[in-house]
Amino acid sequence: MPYDFEILLRGEGLSRIGKIRTKHGDIVTPTLLPVINPRISVITPEDIKRLGFGALITNAYIIYRDEALRDIALNEGVHSLLNFKGPIMTDSGTFQSYVYGKISVTNREIVSFQHEIGVDIGTILDVFTLPTDSYEVAKKKVEETIARALECKDFLEHMILSFPIQGGVYPDLREYAAKRGRDLNFGLYPIGGVVPLMESQRYVDLVRVIIHSKIGLGPSKPVHLFGCGHPLLFPIAVLLGVDLFDSASYAKYARDNRIITPTGTIRLEEIDEFIYPSPYVEKYTPKELLKLDKRERERILSLHNLYVVSYEIKRVREAIRRGELWELVEMRARAHPRLLSALRVLREYVEYLEKFEPISRERAFFYTSPESLNRPIVYRLRKRIKERFKPKYNRVSIISVQNKPYMDYTERIPPNCDVFVRSMFGPVPLLWDVIYPIAQSEEPDIWDKELEEYVKKCEDDLCRRFHCVEVHELTKVTDVYSEVDKLSAIADYQFGPPAGDVLFTGRIRVDRSKTTGRIRMIYRNSIPILFLRPSDGLYTLKYPGGYILYKMLPKIKMHVIVTDDSAEYNAMGKNVFAKFVVDADENIRPGDEVLVISESGELVAVGSSRLSATELLECNSGLAVKVKDFKENYRDLDISLVLGDEE
Ligand code: GUN
Repeated sequence: MPYDFEILLRGEGLSRIGKIRTKHGDIVTPTLLPVINPRISVITPEDIKRLGFGALITNAYIIYRDEALRDIALNEGVHSLLNFKGPIMTDSGTFQSYVYGKISVTNREIVSFQHEIGVDIGTILDVFTLPTDSYEVAKKKVEETIARALECKDFLEHMILSFPIQGGVYPDLREYAAKRGRDLNFGLYPIGGVVPLMESQRYVDLVRVIIHSKIGLGPSKPVHLFGCGHPLLFPIAVLLGVDLFDSASYAKYARDNRIITPTGTIRLEEIDEFIYPSPYVEKYTPKELLKLDKRERERILSLHNLYVVSYEIKRVREAIRRGELWELVEMRARAHPRLLSALRVLREYVEYLEKFEPISRERAFFYTSPESLNRPIVYRLRKRIKERFKPKYNRVSIISVQNKPYMDYTERIPPNCDVFVRSMFGPVPLLWDVIYPIAQSEEPDIWDKELEEYVKKCEDDLCRRFHCVEVHELTKVTDVYSEVDKLSAIADYQFGPPAGDVLFTGRIRVDRSKTTGRIRMIYRNSIPILFLRPSDGLYTLKYPGGYILYKMLPKIKMHVIVTDDSAEYNAMGKNVFAKFVVDADENIRPGDEVLVISESGELVAVGSSRLSATELLECNSGLAVKVKDFKENYRDLDISLVLGDEE
């Protein structure tokens, strides 16, 4: 099967940088495949290459219907026809049947034709579902699409075939279609029938369609959003796990004298200057361009539009790498009220999104708007306060501290209570002050009403759970909390209680940074067990620390079970690859510290998971766990010494 998709880097939400391997090279995602019309195209595949796009999409049905084009494609192949050496995807004619009614080709004929002309990714002749379709009609179309997919299963051995997920605006139909498609094991899953939603700016429906398609499909398959070429939608679609886009809108808008910007389109007649420049329009003012010959202007504007699109795709990829995709999505949502509604809809899905959200990121949490509070990382923090924070006293006091991390600036606190600090995330335990995003966050000095209300609600919730008291008397922080209390509380946040108790018994010693005085390495019985990362205030496990968790927790947590064959290598320090993962704890999120355990039950390594639990279970290629410390490193040590008298 010439198909392979690998997740190279997991970002916020469901976003990822990935790689689709094809016969004509890899497609690094997220990216856009510019649409090339094989008959009339104002721009050439050469232009596409120059603009930095590695792959393109064209229409097999147009080639099939045109005798001259068909002959060349059949004799010399589609790559020769288009004079393009990179990966070529083809669509099947479904969109033509949606626009023009009937088409004169069968499903098997067009798939077979795509195979014969040597496309890298072909598409079955799916049945386009409309937003206006009744449930019954949409269901029939979904079933027909599935039947057509089944009809072409034999082609999967020879080429990558895509299975378009249809289902109109019905969440359960989208989930059903995606699930059935997933079981057929196609190479790519475009979400279809969404052009009318985008044309009428029904972004709330669009977002729901994407999410339910992803729920049905699972995270391991590459996803394409058919007909989406507007940069405005790239950030939110990528956040929800879309990998590929395609569009002819750069050319359509050019024909209409419109230029694409990251936040919308503008008519050339309406502007005096180009706000998003490109080398193609550098020599002209908008007015001068309008005076050019129509064909020349169309070409220049097409190139300009594609240039802007290419930069927006790069911006999104970079936002994934830098860890600022949520901020980009929130900023783009300001460009159109309906996109803002779409962003707000995400709060309904926060529980689902949290399962994929990395444990932390490099950049600080920037509050851009009240919607920032709906991010999964905030939901996780509040959930963990409920489930993982172990109170030491039976009363709580909420204090205000100006600077972060709070403990550095708090000399005196109320005695005999658990101390929480008022923050934009609601009250947070003083003991968790170094943990992401508490310490690594920026908010406006002047709070908006929504933020004030949110914080008040969280404080009321806390005070319903605990006995909140106003205390005027103050004592030294160290009288209330010891260093071990803090270290143990961080372990509870990260691994869940009773990890803190289990790790922090016996003889604990710490090493500190010579420059900042902050705790770095933690030892138990003189053996290193944990490293406290300054970047996100969380631990990197050492093998002996993992050994304690493995031996002492009543139920194994954060486990990744691998085949015995893999375990042999992992014990020597080799990374874990997804195809060797047999089982994984459902609580694992990208970036979490995990225990690598062989099927026969031996802890062989510890490391940082690159994937979430579902991805660990469902992905079949790529890196799963970056091994950081492993059994072989301790071959001269009786590892049970780390437990002391505990065992
Ligand atoms: N292009 C835009 N939308 C669609 C769709 O739903 N199916 C196919 N095959 N192509 C499309």
